[in-house]
Amino acid sequence: MVSSKRRQLGPEERVDLGDGRHVQLLDVLGKGGGATVQRGLVCSSRGVRRPVAVKLFEAVSSDEAEQVRQTLTRTVRRVACIQHPNVVGVYEHGDWRGRPFVLSELIAGVSLAQLHEAYTAKKRRLPLDLALFIAAEIAEGLAGARVARDHEGVQLGVVHHALSAREVLLSWLGEVKVSDFEASTTRAATSSIRSLRGVATRASTMAPEVARGQVADARSDVFSFGVLLRELLVGPRFPVGLTNSESIRLAREGYVQPMTFQPHLPAGVDGVMFRALEVDPEARYPNACALAVDLRRVVLSMGVGDGRYFLRKALEREWSQYVEEVTAPRFVAPAANADDGYEPYDGELVAFEPREKRRR
Ligand SMILES: Nc1ncnc2c1ncn2[C@@H]1O[C@H](COP(=O)(O)OP(=O)(O)OP(=O)(O)O)[C@@H](O)[C@H]1O
Ligand SMILES: [Mg+2]
Repeated sequence: MVSSKRRQLGPEERVDLGDGRHVQLLDVLGKGGGATVQRGLVCSSRGVRRPVAVKLFEAVSSDEAEQVRQTLTRTVRRVACIQHPNVVGVYEHGDWRGRPFVLSELIAGVSLAQLHEAYTAKKRRLPLDLALFIAAEIAEGLAGARVARDHEGVQLGVVHHALSAREVLLSWLGEVKVSDFEASTTRAATSSIRSLRGVATRASTMAPEVARGQVADARSDVFSFGVLLRELLVGPRFPVGLTNSESIRLAREGYVQPMTFQPHLPAGVDGVMFRALEVDPEARYPNACALAVDLRRVVLSMGVGDGRYFLRKALEREWSQYVEEVTAPRFVAPAANADDGYEPYDGELVAFEPREKRRR
């Protein structure tokens, strides 16, 4: 996504899809644990050109690559069935020079982690209405994955297993999209991520049962969502400066730092957060659908405005200086129109009052 380092690759970087189409690899968008994501262009013999994201896995041995390939064969078939505005679409998978890859929808924007960091670097919290809009969209995405059906109408019940702010992509248009569903199993197959450090960096969003190595289900995503919501509204789940093994131990216990009084948090919101963060899965929302309904109800009752517009403005404000440099012209965020009748979003906290009170 946004990075000042942009590597242009030659036209020889071409991935055959085996059906007459090929992907031309363009610049590198970023690197995660065990994979590099590049911008690509799917080219057909009929002249159709579709921009995509190409995730290339860095398997160090052929055994590892084979393991990743098998995992992708299982997961991509399922995840490709999810068609939801809050989920990054997955199109295809394959193999290139011994490296397994996945093609997905290209999101021109930044990750939620990047937006969050931009605010925390300035010692500010995301505005409450913006954070709640993003959270409600994430919950809808998780719910959409749960109810996705395959071509025969069988409900797939897709879960994420490793939800974090890095896996939430925010487009310049103000869309919120969850990526990397069920990718945790693929990551586990690459050696870089089997390390203690790799596990520890993910421990803070892990549900206790996942950290203990037990079977994860839809309720584990609910817990990770609760951590994300807490991070956005209150602060990190764990104290800073923990060692890797301390993080893992706390994750296994389901530890969450006690919360001091948060006057800006409306009562309904902390209710959703506490229920999502229950250590016992039985006490949590049973799945993301139930969570999404509850959160949407709370958000609507507050009269939160056009979240997508707020998000677009917040991104424009943070990244307008990079957009031109990093993206090709067709991916540039639409310029703010001085005559659009809106005041620029100032990013201050909105003081929520019940609707009835505001109308008066
Ligand atoms: N579909 C996409 N469109 C645009 N950028 C993407 C897309 N998918 C991933 N990226 C960006 O590419 C970079 C690497 O992504 P990747 O998923 O490999 O790592 P990560 O999300 O940072 O960590 P993890 O290994 O936990 O997934 C990140 O900056 C991410 O935001
Ligand atoms: Mg990712």
